[in-house]
Amino acid sequence: MDRAAVVPQAPLGIAREGGSELYLPAALPKGPGPAHRASVFYNPAMALSRDLTLAVAVEESRRLGRRLEVWDALAATGVRAIRLLRETEAVARVVATDANPEVVEVLERNAVLEGSGRLIPECRDLRGGDPTLRFDLVEIDPYGTPQPFLPGALRATKEGGILGVTATDMAVLAGPERATCLQRYGGKTVRGYLSREAGLRLLLAHIASVARDQGRRTRPLLSYVGGYYVRTFVRVEPAPLEGGNTGGGAGAGTSPIIPQVGPVPYEGYAGPPLPDKGPVGPMWLAPLHDPEFARSLRPPAQPGSGAKVSRFLEFVAEEVRISVPFYYETGPLSRALGLASPPPRPLILEALREQGWESFRTHASPSGWRTMAPYPEVARIVSGIRWGATDAPGARAGPELPP
Ligand SMILES: C[S@@+](CC[C@H](N)C(=O)[O-])C[C@H]1O[C@@H](n2cnc3c(N)ncnc32)[C@H](O)[C@@H]1O
Repeated sequence: MDRAAVVPQAPLGIAREGGSELYLPAALPKGPGPAHRASVFYNPAMALSRDLTLAVAVEESRRLGRRLEVWDALAATGVRAIRLLRETEAVARVVATDANPEVVEVLERNAVLEGSGRLIPECRDLRGGDPTLRFDLVEIDPYGTPQPFLPGALRATKEGGILGVTATDMAVLAGPERATCLQRYGGKTVRGYLSREAGLRLLLAHIASVARDQGRRTRPLLSYVGGYYVRTFVRVEPAPLEGGNTGGGAGAGTSPIIPQVGPVPYEGYAGPPLPDKGPVGPMWLAPLHDPEFARSLRPPAQPGSGAKVSRFLEFVAEEVRISVPFYYETGPLSRALGLASPPPRPLILEALREQGWESFRTHASPSGWRTMAPYPEVARIVSGIRWGATDAPGARAGPELPP
């Protein structure tokens, strides 16, 4: 097709994200949300997710010593694909597909603008699948749930390759739609401030189970909770003959041996108390990140999310050292312990470390922290913290570190 002859129906303008220019819908939303009503989707608030795709691709290409073959399988404008090609040396070619012909017209325009000939736009329904396709990196970034797309996307990921997955159906994964969660992801979520991490872990368990059906297993390289979405990059590997995705310890140091997937509480669970009656899950209980891979990630030179991506990676580099599920927030913990005011996070971390417990900030919450200390120790140590005027009832906590 003569790409230059394509005339898209959506009103477009040239815009910039990171170090790339591309055609985007002319009327972008003013707030942080996506352009829901536009037939061609672009959400500036997801720039962090694209910054991280660039970081992951660069690290993977460095590791393999060659450029990657990438499939951006729900590509919309192709912003992720274009940024991979324009802003990194990591990628040989990106196949960028979308099922909506109007969207593909924009993709075509952007392929012309990008100009390298290495962005291949196609109109393709991901659910249809092409069993012959294989890529080093496959990206699925849907509206809502990734569930219908996972079998095709996993099949298209090479042995040893990486699959990036977004889920934005947080009312299901982390909210009130618990029956749908059970049906869609096969597990029960958690109430309260830990619901988003539980949602991420439910998603990871589901990805693992789809992989197991294909005789493979998945290992998270980097997983996170965003504002209204969760996202993960998993490595797709051949499954061992027996055991699949279950079994194998996730614990480190003093932690108990934890199954990779299972209900919470599991035997020996000593993390934050959960508000739910009875067990939740089954969910992914093994680490959310591969420490070595996650620590190697570097922000793109011109991040679309500004300083956010560096800060995010800094927090992840800390929290990879904690291998047990779930984190604490100072507010809920202080309420549970009946403290007059929550001690500031730096003091809590210091007090836990003084007692020999590894403890770090988490990307997941500005007042959150992870620790290897079991809950009774956390309760004892945090209750014993004396700081400033905080013994006085109603005294205010010091300033929190930024997320
Ligand atoms: C959330 S948007 C993708 C955003 C894009 N990844 C980005 O970073 O800006 C989801 C896209 O998936 C496309 N889509 C929905 N169902 C599809 C399917 N079955 N196969 C392929 N594309 C599909 C939609 O047309 C839409 O453009």
